[in-house]
Amino acid sequence: MRMEVGPVMGEFLQGKSVVVTGGGGGIGRAVALSAAAEGARVVVADIGVSIAGEDPRSEVAEAVAGEIVAAGGQAVAMAESVTTLAGGERIIAAAVDNFGRVDGVVAVAGILRERMFFNLSEEEWDAVVETHLKGHFTVFRAATALMRKQEGGGSLVAFTSGAFAGSVAQANYAAAKGGIVSLVRSVAAGLYRYGVTANAVAPVARTRMSANVPMDLAEMGDPEDVAPLVVFLLSDRARHVTGQVYTSVGSKIAVWNQPQEVRSVYAEGRWTPESIADRLDTTVGQERMPLLDHLENYRKAAEARSPVEATRSQSEPAAP
Ligand SMILES: NC(=O)c1ccc[n+]([C@@H]2O[C@H](COP(=O)([O-])OP(=O)(O)OC[C@H]3O[C@@H](n4cnc5c(N)ncnc54)[C@H](O)[C@@H]3O)[C@@H](O)[C@H]2O)c1
Repeated sequence: MRMEVGPVMGEFLQGKSVVVTGGGGGIGRAVALSAAAEGARVVVADIGVSIAGEDPRSEVAEAVAGEIVAAGGQAVAMAESVTTLAGGERIIAAAVDNFGRVDGVVAVAGILRERMFFNLSEEEWDAVVETHLKGHFTVFRAATALMRKQEGGGSLVAFTSGAFAGSVAQANYAAAKGGIVSLVRSVAAGLYRYGVTANAVAPVARTRMSANVPMDLAEMGDPEDVAPLVVFLLSDRARHVTGQVYTSVGSKIAVWNQPQEVRSVYAEGRWTPESIADRLDTTVGQERMPLLDHLENYRKAAEARSPVEATRSQSEPAAP
């Protein structure tokens, strides 16, 4: 869905300089347009690739930067990949060179290479982990070196996914998204005293990426539903918010819990494999994976429709 862009409307990000990776399409585009509409000067960094990360085109970033400028805002396009630190440094330098500083970085760039784990190639693993997990490291690393020294600190907004809790046919993607959550918590802790915040958004929105998911998603929204949360996180009103993971879908915002030990049991002396086998189930037990129940329900529903579909549903991937 194309967003209608009017003249610069709000002042939530007035005077701020913001980088949006993956800003040329999908959710990144909606974030770039909303940030600009709230007064931010925006670097739109995107290499305009296919959903699998192929066939780069610089026009994608230029088109969004052009839309912002045509609406009376300030933007520059960077057709630079997030997959190397040198690339990340050039993207952040574009903000400094054009707008004098960098107040916010939103890392939205992403690709998908879907495959059952036992068939996943090294190239498919590397491409996805490089774009998502390393693609956050590169721009966050370059930006925080400046933010820690500047007046007003800075805001980092990462993009994860509900798939960080596990995925059937996107282990590479899920692992990268889980890594992003740990990265955000580490950066939030490490840069707390420098006034730099770091938070992650797990969106669900109608884009070419979500269109690729064969499963019905329980909740759905548009990229324009996700953008306001990101704008808030970039703003001075969110200076106290850090280390969080927020789901954003349609009109819903949800916060994820912080991981912690939930139950423990002690041995008298050292555990043996046998004493663990005897006592684990009746003491700490397990924390059941909701995804396993979800898949089981999905399989049963498919079986009720047709046995053939039920066999196929064993390999259905989870949401992106
Ligand atoms: N759409 C959803 O429902 C959904 C759900 C969960 C998570 N996410 C996450 O949200 C983010 C945005 O997803 P989307 O649905 O808008 O996807 P999208 O495919 O529409 O947009 C991704 C953008 O990233 C750009 N990109 C890819 N590799 C790049 C690289 N190396 N350097 C610079 N730019 C690059 C692409 O050119 C594209 O414009 C992704 O991180 C995705 O994993 C999306």
